[in-house]
Amino acid sequence: MDADLVVTRLSRLYTLDPGSQGLGERTDVSVAFAGGKLLYVGDPANAPEAPVTFDGRGCIGLPGLVDPHTHAVWAGSRSSEFARRLAGESYTAILEGGGGIRSTVRATREASTDVLVGSARARIEGMLEHGVTTVEVKSGYGLDPAQEARLLSVARSASARVRVVTTFLGAHAVPEELRGDRDAYVRQVIDEQLPWCAPLADCIDVYCDRGAFTLDEAVEILTAGRARGLHVRAHAEQVEHTGIAAAAAALGATSVDHLERIDDRGIAAMAANGTVAGLLPAAQVYLRDIAPPVARLREAGVPMAVGTDLNPGTSPVRDLWIAATLATLVQGLTIPEAVLGITRNAGRALGRADLGWLGEGSVADLSVFRPPPGEPPAVESLVQFLGDHRAALVVRDGQVVLR
Ligand code: NIG
Ligand code: FE
Repeated sequence: MDADLVVTRLSRLYTLDPGSQGLGERTDVSVAFAGGKLLYVGDPANAPEAPVTFDGRGCIGLPGLVDPHTHAVWAGSRSSEFARRLAGESYTAILEGGGGIRSTVRATREASTDVLVGSARARIEGMLEHGVTTVEVKSGYGLDPAQEARLLSVARSASARVRVVTTFLGAHAVPEELRGDRDAYVRQVIDEQLPWCAPLADCIDVYCDRGAFTLDEAVEILTAGRARGLHVRAHAEQVEHTGIAAAAAALGATSVDHLERIDDRGIAAMAANGTVAGLLPAAQVYLRDIAPPVARLREAGVPMAVGTDLNPGTSPVRDLWIAATLATLVQGLTIPEAVLGITRNAGRALGRADLGWLGEGSVADLSVFRPPPGEPPAVESLVQFLGDHRAALVVRDGQVVLR
């Protein structure tokens, strides 16, 4: 078969292939694509020729990066809340006072679909510049059937260049109009939002925490989502320990995220069910919170993914490399764990075993980076230097999407 694109002589390629050792590191290697598929990875001497080429000398190749947790569709600004939090107010107190998620819901509901698509596209395609080819995007700032469905549609149509995986998060907060009747809202999520939103979503998520949904409510909502074929996820054990990590894992959750306050029972349930820990170090930093128990997760054999948690309040960060570096600095991941966290384990968190690695059975996504000036072409340098690594080339499904 003729190749249509060849990246020649990458100084280092990390395939992250589950069948290889460590990060699947190889030196001086060419990669070719044909018809949207990976055709060749190997010795430059035997690589096929192609009409489109990229000279990879001096460069680092990685599978297309995967951001497994974002809230990238929103309108409005919460910069004034940032100042209040710096002055000592808590996230939960601001939420209970009508701010936080609730203020973003007001602004998002009022925004036109064009405005939402435009800002979501700018955010998502900004991520592409850092080598991200798959972004998970949640709803959760609409909180009624039509608005939640609109946000999922916006997410799906926001970019032709980035693969978007969508997550229905109707259970993000109880909306103003039903604050006196939370049971009615839970019923609405299950009986009205879910039938409309499930065809637009790949996963279902709940925010089970103080100020949000209880364990029983969360389990009922996740169970209904699972029955519609959605992958189960949860915002878990962040502000308060609720037991949702163990309960979601028992439902077969692909990931439970945050986990600052997870206990040993939750960790054991995750390990037993192969549930990925979605680590969100930027939210930890912005909330000046404690770290999740990474050493215990590692010891139990729980796979760890790392996401930006991009949102207008607790994690206004869209550079996945910054999240990877923060995961090493403030959560204690090793460099290989951080790289695995933004690639293969991030794919697994989304129930997508074909994302975040390069080999037979994977998607044909490749991101190519030059090292920071004066640094060797190795992933250690990309993790050590904080963020701002612009990809020199990004291939998604065998096609050049950024060069
Ligand atoms: O992952 N904790 C709940 N959800 C988001 C925050 C969203 C927001 O504050 O708007 C999170 O941190
Ligand atoms: Fe989140």
